[in-house]
Amino acid sequence: MSDDDAVAFEGATVTACTRCPELCDSRSRIVNGVGPDDAALCFVGEAPGANEDERGEPFVGRSGDVLDDALGDVGLLREDVRITNCVRCRPPDNRDPRTDELANCRDHLERELDAVDPDVVVTLGKVPSQHLLERDVAITSEAGDVHDVRVGDRQFRVVLSVHPAATLYDRSQRDTFTDAIAEAAALAGVEREGSGGQSRLGEF
Ligand code: URA
Repeated sequence: MSDDDAVAFEGATVTACTRCPELCDSRSRIVNGVGPDDAALCFVGEAPGANEDERGEPFVGRSGDVLDDALGDVGLLREDVRITNCVRCRPPDNRDPRTDELANCRDHLERELDAVDPDVVVTLGKVPSQHLLERDVAITSEAGDVHDVRVGDRQFRVVLSVHPAATLYDRSQRDTFTDAIAEAAALAGVEREGSGGQSRLGEF
């Protein structure tokens, strides 16, 4: 048990948490981060959606296909990277997580980043970008920017990115997204030469 009776962990995995009463009602399960415990590259999204809540894994819906495609473009598989969220429980009606929920889940993310110690963190969308930078972010114009950011007791190199779902609604965001992922992979030194992944989306 942690010093907070509402929370229990196994390593960096949150096994129980009742800090957010509304999210306790809306979730089917806690969705923890997946991927290697020592990944060089870590992606941080907003919160689980319906697919993630059902499967217990971040980014497994259509947004996840977009992310997998961009990883494939630089020769990576999702198994090569860490993927997590700012908030681990699905908000009702897929609303954005509230400030108090982000705050309640903050030390879970800090614990995970501290344990994994990635070389590069990529924020997927406005919510995680603002959460880590602790300021307003104009994500479409700031995507691709790199910042050294203090998270908990540690400093991380953070690459800002638009959310993968943005590329589904607005095709012009596709290059912005894939460029940010490629930049992050290069910064982390994990880009593989001669890649060319198989798209799960076809032409979108
Ligand atoms: N969007 C997110 O921000 N996180 C997920 O896990 C899925 C979709």
